[in-house]
Amino acid sequence: MRNHTIFVLIFFLFWRNTDALSNHTFPSFFKFGVATAAYQVEGAWNEDGKGENIWDRLVHNTSIVINHDTGDVACDSYHKYKEDVQLLTQLGVNFYRFSISWSRILPTGYPDQINKAGVEYYKNLINELKANNIEPFVTIYHWDLPQPLQEIGGWLNETLVDIFAEYAKTLFTLFGDDVKYWMTFNEPRQICYEGYGLGWKAPAMKLLGIGPYRCAHVLIKSHAKAYHIYQDNFKEKQGGKVGIVVDTDWYEPATNNPLDREAAERTLQFRWGWYAHPLVHGNYPKIMIQRVAMRSKLEGFEGSRLPAFTPEEVNYIKGSYDFLGLNQYASSLVKFKPESEIGIPSYENDMGTLTFRDPSWERGASDWLYVVPWGIGKVLKWIKKNYNSPEIIITENGYSDYDGALQDDKRINYIQGYLSSILEAIYEDGVKVTGYTAWSLMDNFEWYSGYREKFGLFQVDFQSKNRTRTAKKSANFYRNVIHSRKLNNVGKS
Ligand code: NOJ
Repeated sequence: MRNHTIFVLIFFLFWRNTDALSNHTFPSFFKFGVATAAYQVEGAWNEDGKGENIWDRLVHNTSIVINHDTGDVACDSYHKYKEDVQLLTQLGVNFYRFSISWSRILPTGYPDQINKAGVEYYKNLINELKANNIEPFVTIYHWDLPQPLQEIGGWLNETLVDIFAEYAKTLFTLFGDDVKYWMTFNEPRQICYEGYGLGWKAPAMKLLGIGPYRCAHVLIKSHAKAYHIYQDNFKEKQGGKVGIVVDTDWYEPATNNPLDREAAERTLQFRWGWYAHPLVHGNYPKIMIQRVAMRSKLEGFEGSRLPAFTPEEVNYIKGSYDFLGLNQYASSLVKFKPESEIGIPSYENDMGTLTFRDPSWERGASDWLYVVPWGIGKVLKWIKKNYNSPEIIITENGYSDYDGALQDDKRINYIQGYLSSILEAIYEDGVKVTGYTAWSLMDNFEWYSGYREKFGLFQVDFQSKNRTRTAKKSANFYRNVIHSRKLNNVGKS
């Protein structure tokens, strides 16, 4: 067992430590990092043999993205990765979470051709990180499917399970000596619900009520297969961990009415449980199985729109994680919604809840981003209680504004508030949180919002050819937290 794991185990045997909490000090095993994703920062979309992916296709052929922005150049990290690592060393982070662009390694999506230049790029990045004592945390899939795989139906096609597993295996083989933290999928709910339901993200399919469930089914099986490949062929030699990154709001019942409380719980299960429940408990949450079957029947379907796992699949999927990544930014209030009329089959109607925000909550620039620091603590406690107290890494948390100003006090308050709530969850409730990741290292391509919403600790000048990076006040703040391993001024700002 590696030292880190031993530390964590011992700590959580004796976690009630009020001194450390009142000093706002992070446990010694706790790691700090920042994150980005390939399509959002790399640019070089068609350089050195990279193949086309679904985001390249979407930005070049539709007007879904604000201002027709594209990730063609983005932050130009493909050419400026050394500078990025310098920014990381300025922050003093323990790790850097980045994603690998599938089409840069396997231009066709399949392992028949391996793009040497792509491999070299990630080898160089990883070496540069290691030379600076920064651990690489790698997301295998952050939304950029090779276009040829979309041509065969993308995540609706079950053969993607084997194809994804081949890709993951290629990465374990190429980079596994140096990478000890792997995340199979980033935010599968956004991939499936927004990509195959609402049509807001690539491949922009509008298949509400059908597409998201089929996509999720394929993703979960793909995840499990990659996990087992690692366990069976790499774990012993490479000694790393494999997890997944699931996002959720905290859902607070709008009133004490039992129907609203049930509705809030149901929303958490439809969102977090949809992906985490199979991995931890072997199947979709019971309430989801029941409700989708019930609505499907009313709508006239023969069977449930929610696909079913076979008993063998349940066994195979159950336990397929070493840690769970949590992306947590915002919270919502929830009310029970009376059963809706039979209309278009939809995930929303299947859930049967009404979510909204408290107008008094402070907001970020993104329309979904409400500043609710206590929400993250509640999510963490809820996961501990309902999901076998897993190791949790906060794989994303951050604040957006429009101006990208260097004096970003609101971002500082946000991070400070959320970190403080995380500390409380660790010391008061014994939640096994072992790391925190700020989104994002720098301003970047924010999907359908283009370059309008800015999350960076470093500002990027997208007008300059050089994509000049400049530290914001929050970079300095985060550096001090990491350096002191402590939250200063809690409650003052
Ligand atoms: C979720 C995604 O993982 C990331 O790509 C995105 O930019 C941030 N959160 C902010 O929306």
